[in-house]
Amino acid sequence: MKEKNRTEARKRIEAARLGGGEERLKRQHDAGKLTARERIEVLLDEGTFQEIDALVTHRCTDFGMEERRVAGDGVVTGWGEVNGRRIFLYSQDFTVEGGSLSATNAAKICKVMDMALKAGTPVIGINDSGGARIQEGVASLGGYADIFLRNTLASGVVPQLSAVLGPCAGGAVYSPALTDFIFMAEGTSYMFVTGPSVVKTVTHEEVTQEQLGGASTHSSRSGVCHFRCRDDRHCLEEIRRLLSYLPSNNLESAPEISSDDPVDRADPELTTIVPEGREKPYDMCEILKRVVDQDSMMEVQVEFAKNIITAFARMDGKSVGIVANQPAVLAGCLDIHASVKAARFVRFLDCFNIPIVTFVDVPGFLPGTDQEWNGIITNGAKLLYAYCEATVPKLTVITRKAYGGAYDVMSSKHIRGDLNLAWPSAEIAVMGAPGAVEILFRKEIAASKSPEKMAKEKAEEYENLFANPFNAAERGYIDAVIEEPETRPRLIEGLRLLAGKRDHNPPKKHGNGPL
Ligand code: HXC
Repeated sequence: MKEKNRTEARKRIEAARLGGGEERLKRQHDAGKLTARERIEVLLDEGTFQEIDALVTHRCTDFGMEERRVAGDGVVTGWGEVNGRRIFLYSQDFTVEGGSLSATNAAKICKVMDMALKAGTPVIGINDSGGARIQEGVASLGGYADIFLRNTLASGVVPQLSAVLGPCAGGAVYSPALTDFIFMAEGTSYMFVTGPSVVKTVTHEEVTQEQLGGASTHSSRSGVCHFRCRDDRHCLEEIRRLLSYLPSNNLESAPEISSDDPVDRADPELTTIVPEGREKPYDMCEILKRVVDQDSMMEVQVEFAKNIITAFARMDGKSVGIVANQPAVLAGCLDIHASVKAARFVRFLDCFNIPIVTFVDVPGFLPGTDQEWNGIITNGAKLLYAYCEATVPKLTVITRKAYGGAYDVMSSKHIRGDLNLAWPSAEIAVMGAPGAVEILFRKEIAASKSPEKMAKEKAEEYENLFANPFNAAERGYIDAVIEEPETRPRLIEGLRLLAGKRDHNPPKKHGNGPL
């Protein structure tokens, strides 16, 4: 009996390995995609995969489904290691019923999510699915809801990353959307709530799958996708890279990766980056790259809301999250997209004990009917709320403009900034000189015999008073005005100082931020 069962077990495991069979596996390759199991091999350290539930089959008997049972039922689940640290994963197998979600298939996913939550271990979901298994009806919809609930409960406890490496349509999109970061592959991934044919019927718009919900669309237009990758392999390698910045759960610190970059490296080139003219653009990335550990930056949502930069990096070998205005795009103004992008990032960093380093050069919120009518008030408040709420170490460097409400928002001292530094080029004021003069001296200038001269004089007066960091430094709103080359050593010293920071918000069920 024992031998018979051993042979049967081997047979079933082999059947599970083959998924939907050779022909369908070939089709998967022909479509430019890896199979569910190949993806796991790329994602994990070699030989570390521990599969569970390989012998699970569905129990549906409608539409002749009893004849179509495949061991594993269209999703491969288990755990393994990435850079020596454990993660749980599931990988949908498009070769079995189009990777569609059955009740049993959902139960497999829920099992690894439950185990991950108990073990305090990240969950990686690899999505490649035709959605709800049509033959199972509401049982499949219930399965999705079971996953959504777990995504929500695990949020802020363990990192959850989603690779979308094929179709992900209808309500199925909401599992990745509830996770922390979404990765997509160019040309083979697509996500939409309703596909091109429904769109055509309802709105008469003609769009391709790629235009409606491909990797480019979601990276640059909607912001749904955080990392656009060349193909499956690149995507999985990028997930490995991202995990290197993250702790396994909300009670741990991120791993330390030693760096050869000296902590006391002062960079004289930093004095040359901010141009003399205050309206002139420059690339904030040039500053960031020179300040963080060499080659340690990984930008998030690089193509979306380019007027703000969000990035993981390391300083002194430890993970930090960078939020920085980008004066090279829209003069670094905060708009709806930039606020939402940065707010979500700040909240992620705060969940997972990653210090926030903010670089400020912001002339204010972007004006206009488009912004006002689409809710810059509510959306801008998201970033303000996220910074106010965050209790991780918060370090700020003002490189040039910090004007108006945006000064308050960008991790100012008033909202619990721990170390607020300013470069000599910093200008901390309610607004720029032309606007201020127009409001304060409109009548006097209009009545003046030489209005232009007077406007110029008043602007100079205003600039002398406010186009500097001193007004704020005199009040202690800025802890120190530093020379640009010192930025890296000063920030690292601040991070070391704050490594044991403990701060708390008042006890509550949860806040009611401006969602
Ligand atoms: C059952 C499915 C399936 C599904 C695909 N298949 N989707 N089986 N339920 N949802 C099967 C196909 O019958 C086929 O079986 C195999 O998977 C491959 O599908 P193809 O159509 O041949 O592949 P392709 O041409 O690449 O097209 C892929 C596709 C298409 C675009 C995903 O299959 C499709 O449109 N599927 C239906 C998508 C959909 O409407 N799903 C429900 C969304 S609503 P064989 O045996 O021929 O290999 C939803 C609600 C979620 O998901 C609810 C959450 C709240």
